[in-house]
Amino acid sequence: MLEIKNLHVEVEGQKILKGIDLQVPKGEVHAIMGPNGSGKSTLSYVVAGKDDYEITEGDILWNGESILEMDPDERVASGVFLAFQYPIEIPGVATMTFMRTAINAVRKARGQDELAIPDMMKLIQGKAKDLAVKPDMLKRGLNVGFSGGEKKRMEILQMALLEPGLCILDETDSGLDIDALRVVSEGVNALRGAERSMLVITHYQRLLDYIVPDKVHVMSDGRIVKTGDKELALELEASGYAEYGEDAA
Ligand SMILES: Nc1ncnc2c1ncn2[C@@H]1O[C@H](COP(=O)(O)OP(=O)(O)O)[C@@H](O)[C@H]1O
Ligand SMILES: [Mg+2]
Repeated sequence: MLEIKNLHVEVEGQKILKGIDLQVPKGEVHAIMGPNGSGKSTLSYVVAGKDDYEITEGDILWNGESILEMDPDERVASGVFLAFQYPIEIPGVATMTFMRTAINAVRKARGQDELAIPDMMKLIQGKAKDLAVKPDMLKRGLNVGFSGGEKKRMEILQMALLEPGLCILDETDSGLDIDALRVVSEGVNALRGAERSMLVITHYQRLLDYIVPDKVHVMSDGRIVKTGDKELALELEASGYAEYGEDAA
């Protein structure tokens, strides 16, 4: 269970999050929708532990324990995973090598044995196939020269391999055509489960046709201003974000 309590966050002295309260129980998928600039990515970064964000008030609990003092690697090891809105490129590190290292680090943290290379290859190649990630992509530098859609599929592949307890997807739909959206959504839906909490961040309702959330939260100017069930996303699609401070596009 993820619990965010009265979270206030500043970046370079500017208040970005202004008292976020949010609970995502195990087994549930919650969506966060909101206009650009409302603080959605900031929230996901802060949960993942990216630096440069100053938490001035509040707490983030994962399975009952505060994670604020944990560095990003420790958070990953404890089961927190963020699929970035803009996945970073790491030239010089083959994607396969990166994944192998990440998987074994997480296994080690969980008290599991490291996987030998042949088992690891089989595991990675099997899941890659499910997500239409080409073998050639696994040999290239992480995300280097990948298209927007390929980067997003790679993020979901990492998520599927690390089996996190908390999955945060930040605008995973941006830059995806309809076929890629389907592949990615199927990958995400396959990971839904009684032991997993998911937070799906999106500007558009379309993704939520494929990944149907248990709850929808609307974020505006650093606050959650409305919470409802999946129908709230449809209302937003019809009315836009005008009432939440964004000009109608
Ligand atoms: N590193 C930063 N430095 C200064 N301002 C930032 C930084 N990151 C985000 N912001 C500001 O915080 C606000 C929220 O941004 P963001 O979390 O990216 O929103 P969203 O993901 O909802 O579009 C915006 O006004 C943005 O300009
Ligand atoms: Mg964002």
